[in-house]
Amino acid sequence: MSEKATMEKIVSLAKRRGFIFPGSNIYGGLSGFWDYGPYGVMLKNNITRLWWRIFVEEREDVHGLDSAILMRQDVWQASGHVGGFVDAVVSDTVNGRQFRADHLLEDQGYDPTGMSIEDISNHIKENNIKSPNGNPLSEVSTFNMMFETCIGAGKGEESKSYLRPETAQGIFANFKNIMDSVHPQLPFGIGQIGKAFRNEIAPRDFIFRAREFEQMELEYFVHPDEWEKWFDHYREEIWRWMDMIGLDRDSIHELEVPAEDRAHYSKRTIDFEFDYPFGRKELYGLAYRTDFDLKSHASKSGQELSYLDQEKNERVVPHVIEPSLGVDRTLLAVLVSAYREDEMNGEKRVFLSLPVAIAPVRVAVFPLMKNKSDLVSKAREVFEILKKEIPRVIYDESGSIGKRYRRQDEIGTPHCVTVDFDTLDDQTVTVRDRDSGEQKRLKIEDLLAELK
Ligand code: GAP
Repeated sequence: MSEKATMEKIVSLAKRRGFIFPGSNIYGGLSGFWDYGPYGVMLKNNITRLWWRIFVEEREDVHGLDSAILMRQDVWQASGHVGGFVDAVVSDTVNGRQFRADHLLEDQGYDPTGMSIEDISNHIKENNIKSPNGNPLSEVSTFNMMFETCIGAGKGEESKSYLRPETAQGIFANFKNIMDSVHPQLPFGIGQIGKAFRNEIAPRDFIFRAREFEQMELEYFVHPDEWEKWFDHYREEIWRWMDMIGLDRDSIHELEVPAEDRAHYSKRTIDFEFDYPFGRKELYGLAYRTDFDLKSHASKSGQELSYLDQEKNERVVPHVIEPSLGVDRTLLAVLVSAYREDEMNGEKRVFLSLPVAIAPVRVAVFPLMKNKSDLVSKAREVFEILKKEIPRVIYDESGSIGKRYRRQDEIGTPHCVTVDFDTLDDQTVTVRDRDSGEQKRLKIEDLLAELK
């Protein structure tokens, strides 16, 4: 029996098993910030490493980058973020609580899709919409979502900067550096993984809408005539990726984003939406960013940001296809997809059926009992053998064997290897499969081949 994951169950498992904790927890938490614990960071690293391998390393035409989080404010002026990265906000006139206006409409059963800020404002007035507490709402205002900061001791306009709200601009700002140093041929891509920050008015749904999060972004530069071909290519690549990390295809839906809802730089966007327990929401975006960014940066910086096609002897400003994948939303979709409940030996069991490639722990090795020194030393010997050849092997001797199995099931460990008294006689161990709970005896010498 497999049961549907609820947010309550996922959040509780994530905390209980050391995946994710509320940020600043001992001081009562800080809304929109989350800390990844030992198994959370292992899962996150496995996801980002896999993305890096698939989207960057295995591609001859893609180069990696790790650009600075803080950049000059010119970057954000040219990108359009200083002027336009805004949300509509309203507040409860009695208690001062602030709401993102489109979310407020959504929560009260209206569909804000395609509404401009002015439309939202009119809609609130015409329908006499109140706050969730039933109080009148303020006028709609706009709020820039970038976190401002100051560089150096000064506090003036000159020292102002912003925490990046997307990693993409670091890529555009380095286009010339990469052209001049690596000399890539069109089409080519630049990929980057890194933190992004957005001062969301109402962070919610656990790590889904956070104020600090991570992105895996690729800007793929193409000849303007070829954008459709590469858009389709990356559409397929995103599906391939989602299969690899174990997302259920039936829970994923493509949404062709209508023009009025697209970001200012996009001529076409497909959102990949996922059926989270709180509803169908954006997991990833695939955008055709045209030459918007390179042209804006060329114009503001005065630098030549184009590509010389030597065969045709013509200069083109490449157009951009951007698959943009949030790490935290991926991790949440992975947890939701992998969550299972069943009954084993008459007891309710929770386990994460994670793909081997991303499971935080690949194999756990146990001695049957921790107070028998010959079992412990044999188990450590097996642990050492496996650890040399297989990544992410752990040794665990704390608690009863049943408790250890339950712990590893909830962490999503595909295999547990137990050393018992028979091992000492016949050099065999028990290997337990996470999903079926089946156990089989294997010779230690055959273990590596079986687990690999
Ligand atoms: N460079 C394009 C870009 O940033 P976006 O749709 O605003 O586009 C891309 O963000 C992805 O980043 C989203 O699809 C989502 O996975 C993730 N993301 C965006 N805002 C987020 C937030 N507040 N919390 C967690 N992830 C977020």
